[in-house]
Amino acid sequence: MSKRTATMTDTHPARRWDPVVKLTHWSVALAVLANAVITEEGSAAHVWVGYALAAILGLRLLWGLVGPPEARFAAFPLSLGRAVAHLRDIRAGRHVAHRSHNPLGALMVYAIWATLLVVIGTGIAMAGLPPARTGARLTVSEASARGEAAQHRADSEDRGEHEREERGDHGDGEQGEGIAEEVHEATATLLYGLILLHVAGVAFESRRQRRNLALAMLPGRG
Ligand code: HEM
Ligand code: HEM
Repeated sequence: MSKRTATMTDTHPARRWDPVVKLTHWSVALAVLANAVITEEGSAAHVWVGYALAAILGLRLLWGLVGPPEARFAAFPLSLGRAVAHLRDIRAGRHVAHRSHNPLGALMVYAIWATLLVVIGTGIAMAGLPPARTGARLTVSEASARGEAAQHRADSEDRGEHEREERGDHGDGEQGEGIAEEVHEATATLLYGLILLHVAGVAFESRRQRRNLALAMLPGRG
């Protein structure tokens, strides 16, 4: 066994992710996939998947404060300096152990979470919060109406935009909706790009470590 392989094996103990990290990871991935390719934009399903996504992300962020050591934010601090040092390690072929996400991965994780928060925030700005009354349920038709109302506002805004511009009138509420919609769309697109980079990063680091990192995210593994 070469010295480098020995070092690699020694410094990369199999990573363990607890069930909450695994469950929230794949649920977030599924929700993003659903809203990106399956649900109709602004539909009841889209909005409900969105609320579920918000709850799952909330749970994961709470877990970052109270979960096991490798799931905590403290285990993967947001640090540009550490990310650059990690890039240097890659260039030099050095393998340094990290008990949680490596510093470059950590940058990506925070970027994905921040983008998700903006997508969720702008989505809720358009569709409203789910009903807060105890025991109250938002029926599919009510949720659909919320989505359609947002869609309708957006459509009429498109139609009225020209007229309003001519009148010099910029209704603040509708303008806010329009901004929310544009930011929602732009951050959703940004999210797709980050996810592609994330999966590429996982593939690259798996190759470098000669260990499939994705396996550690599966139930009963890692
Ligand atoms: C990662 C999750 C999500 C993705 C990828 C996503 C993606 C999109 C995209 C691409 C559009 C079309 C934007 C346009 O062309 O105008 C859209 C529209 C919409 N989304 Fe989302 N969305 C997500 C989460 C949410 C959430 C959390 C909510 C609210 C709870 C939401 C509510 C809406 C509404 C109401 C519209 C209709 C906007 C309009 O045209 O008026 N979305 N979404
Ligand atoms: C919509 C798609 C995806 C999103 C939004 C996403 C997002 C994330 C996030 C936020 C984390 C941090 C996990 C945490 O600490 O809670 C993470 C970690 C991870 N993801 Fe994904 N992910 C997606 C798809 C995938 C796919 C398809 C794979 C399989 C190749 C994958 C493999 C991993 C692995 C292995 C980690 C742990 C990285 C490490 O060892 O440091 N992800 N992902």
